[in-house]
This record gives sequence, C-alpha cells and structure tokens, in this order.
Amino acid sequence: AAAMAWRRRAPAAPGAVDASPVPPPPERFARALRVPGRDGLMAELALNAPLTVHARDAAFAMFDGAPTRVWHYAASIGDRAPANPLLRARRGDTLDVRLVNDLAEATTIHWHGLAVDEANDGSGLHPVAPGGEARYRYTIDNRAALYWYHAHPHGRTGRQLQFGLAGPLLVEDDEERALRDRLGLAWGERDLPLFIADKQVGDDNAIVYKDGADDWIGNRVLVNFTPEPHLDVVPGLYRLRIANASNARMLRLAFAAGDGLLPFRLIGTDGGLLAQPWLVDDVFVAPAQRVDVLVDFGTRAAASGAGERVLLRSLAYVAMENEDESGAFARDPMGDHPGAAAMGEAIDLMEFRIGGARPPRVDVPARLCALPPPPAVDGWPVRAFRLRMDAEGRWFINDWNFHDTGHEPVFAVRRGTREVWEIRNSMTSMPHPIHLHGFAFRVVSRSISPPDVRARSVDANGLGPQDLGVGDTVAVWPGEIVRIALDFSQPFAGTQRYMLHCHNLEHEDMGMMLTFAVVDA
Ligand code: C2O
Ligand code: CU
Ligand code: CU
Repeated sequence: AAAMAWRRRAPAAPGAVDASPVPPPPERFARALRVPGRDGLMAELALNAPLTVHARDAAFAMFDGAPTRVWHYAASIGDRAPANPLLRARRGDTLDVRLVNDLAEATTIHWHGLAVDEANDGSGLHPVAPGGEARYRYTIDNRAALYWYHAHPHGRTGRQLQFGLAGPLLVEDDEERALRDRLGLAWGERDLPLFIADKQVGDDNAIVYKDGADDWIGNRVLVNFTPEPHLDVVPGLYRLRIANASNARMLRLAFAAGDGLLPFRLIGTDGGLLAQPWLVDDVFVAPAQRVDVLVDFGTRAAASGAGERVLLRSLAYVAMENEDESGAFARDPMGDHPGAAAMGEAIDLMEFRIGGARPPRVDVPARLCALPPPPAVDGWPVRAFRLRMDAEGRWFINDWNFHDTGHEPVFAVRRGTREVWEIRNSMTSMPHPIHLHGFAFRVVSRSISPPDVRARSVDANGLGPQDLGVGDTVAVWPGEIVRIALDFSQPFAGTQRYMLHCHNLEHEDMGMMLTFAVVDA
C-alpha cells in the first residue's frame, strides 16, 4: 500500500504542531537543483514559434543506479531536445503547440489555469488516441503567473502525471515585468521555478502507480525533476515560483533554519501577484496550486554566518479536529467525527546552502500591483456544491460522480453572468483542492477552517493571505464552506464545455469531477 500522508489520531493539544520531518535517506540533497537550461528535462522554451511535442516514454538518469522511465512531452529544436519544457510566453502571445501521441494510450495537454475555449482546453472531452495528433492554438490572455500543463485523459490522469506528463508555463506581462525590474533578481539565478511533485519509487528506481488507488502519496520528492536537491545560494533575497504538481500531497511549505522557521513573503498565487506582500511562516499549497514567494537567506546568514543550511520543508498539519463540544468543529452540519483528527506528515523537499558574498540589499515594494479586492457579491446568484463520499467510498460533487454523468454537462451557466459558488465539504472528509477549467476566481469567504488554516485568517471573512489573489484551485478543508466569485465573461461563442473537479488526481479519476457548459447569453 502507498505510504499515506493521512492518518487519524487522537486530537492534538490546541496549537501543538508536530514539525519533526520524515528522516531523509542517506543520499538526500546530494544533487544540485536543475535550473531551466538548454536541454533535457525542464529546459526553457520561448513560445514565440509553433512547437511540436511528442508524448512519449524514455529513460532518464534520475536516482542513483538504474535509470527511470519518465513519460514526458518531448520537443526537438535544432540540436536541443527539451522534455517537459518550461514554456515562457507573454500575455497576448499565440500558443501554437502540436501534440503527437507516441504513447500506447490516449492522452492530452490541458493548459491548467488558462482562459481557453473548449477545443483548446485539452480536457478528457478531447482525447488524443495513440498515434493521433492534436493542435492547440490560442492567444494567451491571462495575468502573469506560473501556470502549468499536464495530461488529462479521463480515468488516467493520476497515472499519467505520476509517470511524469506535466511541466510549467510561465506567463509574463507589463505589470509583473515592472516588479521584476524593480527587484532586479536575475531569472534562472535568484528568480527560480520550483516544480514540485512527489513520486512513489520502487527499489529498481521505477516510478510505480496502481490504478484505482486512493491518494497516491510518494516516497520521494522531485523538485524540477531532481530528487531532494540542493541549491547553493548567496546570503540575499530570492524569488521562488512554486508549483505543487503532486498527485495528492498537500504541502504546507516553510523554510526551516536551525530549530526555527525563516519567515518569508508571499507575493503571488495561482493567477499572479497579490496586491501586497504578506510576511508568513508557512503557506499551504494544495495539489495544482502555485505560490510566488520572496525569501531572504541574508537574514539567516546575519544570525549565524555563511555555511548555514535552510530546508524547504512541508510541515505537519492538522486537517480536521473536534476540539471540544462547544468548538466550531462540533457543529458539523453534515456529519460527525467525535474526537477525530487527520493530519499530514512533515517531509523535507530540498536544501539551500548559503555561501559567498552578500549581494546588494533589495527593497520589496509595499504595493506589488493594482489587483482590486474581491468583488462585493451581494445579490449574485449562488450555486451550491457539496463534497462528500458515499457508503461505498465513492467521491461525489452533489449527486454527481463522473462515472455516471460523463461528458454530459450537469448544469449550464450563461456567458457574461456572475455567480457565487458555495463549496461545502463534509466534516469527515479530506481537504479537496477544487479546480475549474476556463475561468479564474476570487475567494470571497472561508468558514470553520481547521486550526492550522484558521490561524492564517487576516480578515473578517476567514481569508488567509493565499486566498487574497486570483485563483484557479482552492482547498476546501473538512467541514469548511468556501465561497468563490466567478465572472463567466469570455471572448468565445456557442456552447463551451469545461470540467469542475477535485485536483487530488485519485479523487478526480474516481469520478469527483463533472462537466458544465457555458452557453450564449
Ligand atoms: Cu490541472 Cu482539470 O486540471
Ligand atoms: Cu485545469
Ligand atoms: Cu478530493
């Protein structure tokens, strides 16, 4: 059985955090972090010309010993052979990618977070058969941010992502460019993507996956397709654009230094920059979510000098807890779980090794961009969704399981209208990272969060700093009610079908997904 990140246990003392990490294997942190280069895995490619990629399976030297077969999107440009490239584009650019499927099963490329029409969405509605081809061609019209692309064939998404079919897509625009110029952190040196995915790896270095599994949690962590890497850093400010491309592992990211945590600034989320930086000790990053952070290794060096090491760690957390009979968690409207708690385990992801000369000081502006606050939603129509598991252990959104409803849209929204979606998770559930295609949203409110989430509220609506940006995936914790505001304006016509699903890929593949339609007003 897969190592489970989840376990039930007796309630923790209020406020207690078990931060002891999983002990690292001996070879941990031995490899240098891969930074987007010219060739191979995560090589950088500008999207300024049409591109052909082949979905294929090939061996890469990844761990000590035997090579590892990785399913990937392979490009070939002159003498370069980028695999799962880091694609770079500017808002307004045309993305023109031809996919050739060399695998023995259907696949797609889904452009996660991008505002595309159905034909370019690469969802399971448009699978590409073995030996077949598809062409994705659209104008990128999203805010600057780290997005990503991945396979999305129905029932096989968990398997195909576990085997590797995913990569990052960086979109730039003038507003973000202005911040970048002001910070002056060189891309590829002090401004880096961290594309994180855990993998279940066997003794022969093969990635393993079991169809029909629950929550596939890895025993190894890849950052930029490098297992448990290290990065040599100078004692100064770094910008890290982090994506959680794991199948099911929720990350609670922190920088562990000595026996404490190094506070850092959260400056952006899924859909780009926040209005202002927020100083935090840790941030939850659910599967499919992204965060943009600034961390200053100089403060650590000041404390104890160069040679210091800082770990990027996912902290343990409590996801649900019945604190006492009078606490919010005892008032579960949908079930009960007396005295139970569920938690995620700590795990170390990578190491930063501080050394060298201190670079010039960088001032972080108090205002990052012109993002307005979430809209006032009084009077907007509300659509309700309930996340639950039935007695047979099948996950549902309302009464819908994809294996029953399939491609048939279960509801339609009119293009150009605005709606509040109220997503309610049962108390006895897990956190579900809920994602919809085609549209970004703003989180409006979050209620009865578990303690580790509730502690992050910075406003009266229960929102934490990471809720204050533009989102495409939102974690809905056990017992929570999260409301998001959606504007269904888009420059397309006719009926466009999209997916709404849990981005825990095992939940998705087990049917925690539905099709909805956007129709002409
Ligand atoms: Cu990243 Cu439908 O997913
Ligand atoms: Cu998506
Ligand atoms: Cu789920």
